[in-house]
Amino acid sequence: MRTRTLAVMAAAVVVVASGFGAGVVAQMGRGHMMDDGDFWQPGWMHRHMWGRRDAPPDMRARMQRHWTFMHEGVPKAYQRAQSPLKPTIADITEGGTLYTENCASCHGKSGMGDGEAGKSLTPSPALLAWMIQRPVAVDEYLMWTISEGGAEFKTDMPAFKGALQREQIWKIIAYMRAGFPAVAKKAAPKK
Ligand code: HEC
Repeated sequence: MRTRTLAVMAAAVVVVASGFGAGVVAQMGRGHMMDDGDFWQPGWMHRHMWGRRDAPPDMRARMQRHWTFMHEGVPKAYQRAQSPLKPTIADITEGGTLYTENCASCHGKSGMGDGEAGKSLTPSPALLAWMIQRPVAVDEYLMWTISEGGAEFKTDMPAFKGALQREQIWKIIAYMRAGFPAVAKKAAPKK
């Protein structure tokens, strides 16, 4: 019974994988090395990939970060990084203050990617309010991304590892996971 289920699953994997393989080869032939592999991404990225082969550069840069994570994981320094917080209101409030000071200029007050400083950037600042709900938004991924920024992908996302301590970054993450709550916004001192 179990063997049979496994065999069926294996067959399904082969069928699916060969379909993807053909797509990747077709893309490589077209000189789209950077685009391949994004089939692990759900939703709009996926549809975009296979609907239109010529992803615009900003889309490509965004996908590369996710692609790298899915295939290579995070660098050693971030492996098994795990938030030590069971966030309290105080943690979330402090995260809100830090978010407002360090992130909102690009990502927008409520994480909608609409900060003034972000308007001229390509790729544009991520929609954090959306991405924080996605399966990719695990501790390792967020700590790596926020600490190292976009240098590896040639984007304008700054590296915060020198500017913020990990504990501060965990608080910002807690704030985002709490849905960018107004309680934190109200409590945050205006500057
Ligand atoms: C100068 C503008 C700027 C600032 C300030 C900034 N970011 Fe970004 N951020 C970007 C851009 C542009 C991207 C998209 C490109 C990329 O992923 O590297 C991005 C991407 C991200 C991503 C990846 C999103 C995804 O879809 O995977 C996260 C997480 C993130 N930023 C968090 C933060 C946090 C937290 C702060 C504050 C501590 C911050 N950013 C400050 C510009 C900025």
